[in-house]
Amino acid sequence: MKKYSLRFTLLSTLDLGAGNYLLRLTLPLHEGIFPEMAPGQFVQVAVPGGYVLLRRPISICSVFAEQRELWLLVGRVGQGTSVLTNLRDGSELSLLLPLGNTFSTEGIKNPLLIGGGVGIAPMLFLARSFAERGIRPTILLGGRTKEHVVLRDYFETLGNTHYTTDSGELGVHGRVTDHPILHEGTFDQIYTCGPKVMMLAVAKMAEARGISCEVSLENTMACGIGACLCCVEDLEGKGNTCVCTEGPVFDSRLIKKN
Ligand SMILES: Cc1cc2nc3c(=O)[nH]c(=O)nc-3n(C[C@H](O)[C@H](O)[C@H](O)COP(=O)(O)OP(=O)(O)OC[C@H]3O[C@@H](n4cnc5c(N)ncnc54)[C@H](O)[C@@H]3O)c2cc1C
Ligand code: FES
Repeated sequence: MKKYSLRFTLLSTLDLGAGNYLLRLTLPLHEGIFPEMAPGQFVQVAVPGGYVLLRRPISICSVFAEQRELWLLVGRVGQGTSVLTNLRDGSELSLLLPLGNTFSTEGIKNPLLIGGGVGIAPMLFLARSFAERGIRPTILLGGRTKEHVVLRDYFETLGNTHYTTDSGELGVHGRVTDHPILHEGTFDQIYTCGPKVMMLAVAKMAEARGISCEVSLENTMACGIGACLCCVEDLEGKGNTCVCTEGPVFDSRLIKKN
């Protein structure tokens, strides 16, 4: 898939709580064609201001091609994400996109999507793409508290949505792997994105039940295009592999569990 370097305009930044922000961006007509993007892919965002040199990788959270609109869910963790979530509406943002591979969805009829923290971002795009094909996915979202499980209304319109929270405020008390749906539900594919420890636990359960599972890794990245090797993951049978170009989505069986 061709990569583009484009200047988007920030339409709005919505404070979702718990340090999470939804950035709505639009591509002005003079920037040309709105690129094709698929669930699982990410963008490299240049941080305006010149204090943060490296672009920051952020998953594509939703795309509305007709409106030339792209959504990013950004968790504020350091300087780069602080700048990105404090921009004025109308600011310009330089994005390199679309990067990375995509979730495999061909022939899948009964998917389970599991997201934790800002790892729910690619799950919204994935849920939307299933819904557009007439498939209502099962969705399981986990967070520390109710406030940490964001964009719930959007997920609920797209799929049968379940929750877990560490605090017990919303859904099942505990982690996503404590939810009965993961133990009892019949699915032909599980997709997961979130903290690595969560993805490994989900992957182990999926593999034990014989359900195919894809994980989306969020390894630290610099270039995002396969040039610096700082994102490598040591995969089963493949050795060191660039997550930015070969991933970020991998079959869970390739991920070393220890
Ligand atoms: C493919 C991919 C998709 C991503 N999608 C999203 C997304 O949709 N939304 C989002 O908010 N974030 C996402 N991230 C993580 C995001 O890129 C980092 O949080 C961001 O680069 C941090 O930049 P910073 O300058 O704010 O923080 P820094 O100053 O660089 O770091 C601050 C703290 O965050 C930690 N950190 C930095 N990068 C990561 C990371 N990749 N994973 C875990 N901890 C990290 C650092 O170790 C440090 O403790 C994604 C990462 C990858 C690789
Ligand atoms: S981030 Fe540079 S090679 Fe992957």
